[in-house]
Amino acid sequence: MKIFLDTANVDQIKEIAGWGILDGVTTNPTLIAKEGRDFREVVTQICSIVDGPISAEAVSMTAVGIMEEARELTKIHPNVNIKIPIMPEGLKAIAMCKKEGIKTNATLIFSSNQALLAAKAGASFVSPFIGRLDNNGQVGMEVIESTVTMFENYNLDTEIIVASVRSPLHVIDSAMIGAHICTIPYAIIKKMVTHPLTDVGIKSFLADWEKVPK
Ligand code: G3P
Repeated sequence: MKIFLDTANVDQIKEIAGWGILDGVTTNPTLIAKEGRDFREVVTQICSIVDGPISAEAVSMTAVGIMEEARELTKIHPNVNIKIPIMPEGLKAIAMCKKEGIKTNATLIFSSNQALLAAKAGASFVSPFIGRLDNNGQVGMEVIESTVTMFENYNLDTEIIVASVRSPLHVIDSAMIGAHICTIPYAIIKKMVTHPLTDVGIKSFLADWEKVPK
C-alpha cells in the first residue's frame, strides 16, 4: 500500500519524506488555509520535496471553472493531480481532464456508487472520507471494502485513496482490505512508528551496551 501524507505543512512533509516511506501528498482547501501561505507557492514547494502524486484541490463549482484551475495548477509540476468534488459538474470536469491527460482525484466520496461514477468518468484516484463517515454513525471502512471489490470486479485502474484517517487502526484496516493508498495525517503517522515496548527495548539495550567491556 502506498503511503501519502494528508497535510500542506512543508516541515511535516520534509520530516516524513526523510523516513523514506512517502509516496505522495494530499492537500485540501482547509489544510492550505491552515498554513496561511500562497496556494501555488505551497504546492510548488511540496513538489520539490516529494517525487510522487501531489493533490491540489479546485474550488470552482462548474466544469469550465474547474478546468481553468486544473490547467493552471498542473503547470506547477507534472506530479500535480486535481482534487475535484464528486458532483455532476465534477464528473464532467474529471472526464474533460482525462481527455487532456490531467490526473484527477475525486474527493468528498462517501459511497461506493460515487466512487464508481468517478472511476467511470476517468478519475485517476478516488478519495472516500472514512473518518467523517465514522463520525456520522456509518462504518467508513465498509465503503473502502465495497469500492475495492467493485474496482477489482471490472479491472478499473482508478486507485483508491483512503482519506479522513483518524487512527493507526484505520491504516491497518486499509492495508488488510487492499486499498491502493492511505493518506495519513502527520499525527497518526507519528503514532504508527512508535510502540512503548520499542522504547523500553531501546533503553535496556543501550543500558546493557554500557556494561560491555570496551
Ligand atoms: O484530505 C482529505 C481528507 O483526508 C480530510 O480529512 O480529517 O478533514 O476529515 P478530515
